[in-house]
Amino acid sequence: MRDAAASRLGTGGTAALVGSPFVLGPSRRRAAALDERENGTVSKDEVAVTELGRAARRWSDLLQGWAIPGPVLASAPEPPYFFDPEVFEHAAAEALARDVDTVSDSVARELLPAGGSVLDVGAGGGAASLRLGAGGARVVGVDQSRELLDVFRSLASSAGVRVGAFEGSWPEIAGSVPSADVVVCHNVVYNVACLAEFVEALDAHAKRRVVVELTAEHPLSWTRPYWKALHGLVVPDGPTADDAVAVLAALGLAPQLQRWTRVVQMVGETGPDGLSKIARRLCIGPDRYDELRRVVAEVPPPTRRDVVTVWWDKRRRAWSDSELPPV
Ligand SMILES: C[S@@+](CC[C@H](N)C(=O)[O-])C[C@H]1O[C@@H](n2cnc3c(N)ncnc32)[C@H](O)[C@@H]1O
Repeated sequence: MRDAAASRLGTGGTAALVGSPFVLGPSRRRAAALDERENGTVSKDEVAVTELGRAARRWSDLLQGWAIPGPVLASAPEPPYFFDPEVFEHAAAEALARDVDTVSDSVARELLPAGGSVLDVGAGGGAASLRLGAGGARVVGVDQSRELLDVFRSLASSAGVRVGAFEGSWPEIAGSVPSADVVVCHNVVYNVACLAEFVEALDAHAKRRVVVELTAEHPLSWTRPYWKALHGLVVPDGPTADDAVAVLAALGLAPQLQRWTRVVQMVGETGPDGLSKIARRLCIGPDRYDELRRVVAEVPPPTRRDVVTVWWDKRRRAWSDSELPPV
């Protein structure tokens, strides 16, 4: 979807369009300076910066491709950007109640010491962290939505988990947030245009490990046929988890990953009022429900999603700060 006056089509209604995707974090800047001093040329660093720039640009360009064209947005009876707090509350309650750990839970738990700490960025209701808190970890959540932080606090209190909460947008708020043994960040990165900065701040706050969970494809990829049928719009088939991993690798983070599937829980459009929610996302009103109903019958929303758990350890960094002299 390409239009100069377009707004971004985020999953939660907002998107972090902050800074530049080409800004390097502290470790990369130091590595760049070292290369420059040692070589006289900047060839190695230039390659790294080019790789990072290319990966980061691809990520942000593909996300921008999800922008809703201005005229479509202007015709929307209701703002298409919305989130349903109940969806996130349900996800967190389900995480607290389930019998077994997901892949992401296990990967986080693996490096979490007894009584250790977890920082949950884009916490929502706390699906990524409250289960770890119930196992004895100290949990801090960060979210830009006060409403969702209230859900997070309330669920934590019912589960007997003591939590801290910081309201604000990551990475802007990162300077006020304490670091933790394990940093978790689930179902957030498709809202983040400047992924390199966002990830570097996650990394800077982890003492042991960072665990990122994301859907294999854009969380709204299943709406692609609906945009085509109702507006004639072609939505890009990216970005994907592989594109995110390319940014992490270009940052020198040595990411590991595991693919798995889970029941859809993030969308909130599969319930009894699902059709009206899909219609709202597509900027159409009840006058087009019949058209939408036909397309949805042909290509129903998914009930399961492929997801990817990506993680990296501080000791596994390809470019360790301790190996670099001060610059
Ligand atoms: C799809 S929800 C996921 C919530 C939770 N992590 C989960 O998996 O259930 C995304 C959450 O990230 C928050 N969020 C998105 N971008 C953010 C940012 N840059 N800084 C802080 N919170 C953000 C949203 O407010 C929302 O609560």
